[in-house]
Amino acid sequence: MNLINLFPLTVIKDKIEIAEKDRNIMIEEIKDMKKNSKNENYQTETNAWTGDTQGFEFIHKNEKFKLLFNEIIKRVWGYLNCIEIDNKLVDLYIQRSWATISEGNERIKKHRHFQSHISFAYYLKKSKQDSNLVVFDESYKNEVMPGIFRSDTALQKGIVRKMNHFNVTQAIINVEENDIVIFPSKTIHSTQPAKSNDERISISADIVCVAKDSNLLEMGMPPLKEWSKM
Ligand SMILES: [Fe+2]
Repeated sequence: MNLINLFPLTVIKDKIEIAEKDRNIMIEEIKDMKKNSKNENYQTETNAWTGDTQGFEFIHKNEKFKLLFNEIIKRVWGYLNCIEIDNKLVDLYIQRSWATISEGNERIKKHRHFQSHISFAYYLKKSKQDSNLVVFDESYKNEVMPGIFRSDTALQKGIVRKMNHFNVTQAIINVEENDIVIFPSKTIHSTQPAKSNDERISISADIVCVAKDSNLLEMGMPPLKEWSKM
């Protein structure tokens, strides 16, 4: 018998090693951002601090993050290479970027990044017990009985014997300090619940892919130079 698995979601995990001195400079800068939050009421008790909602959504323009972003961009091109998008025919733009700080049981709920194409999380500060990344499926391709792989009672009753690669609808990606995870922005993701974080700090950004030349190209975003502001 052959099992033929089709149509994967591809997520890349890689390492970016940085000097401790540079890491500490970035950590201090991010802590300063948190101290200067512009919308403190937005952060509820169980939500992590997210810089993009607090007035700090363009950290890629901050010199202190420049070296890191140079390395990140190389990994993003590597990701596009894996899914056979030709780097000679597209441009990449970082739209926005921000840091996230999670302390104690703070978490980031399920969400997706609607306005961009590729997103990433880089773990600038993370200890082993801090929460990992969770990604969620939405296609449920093997769910022959609708809802069955999302049902706790189906597991309790034993109708579904166990979760495995063929039926999971959510997956934890274990990450360590210095890891970067790159994925399509439309992928629903969250941080792992029920974890105690020891000041976990990650950096994320939203990236858009734009065709260098849209001539005879039906899909894909045309080059920005062709856009007219209305
Ligand atoms: Fe996110």
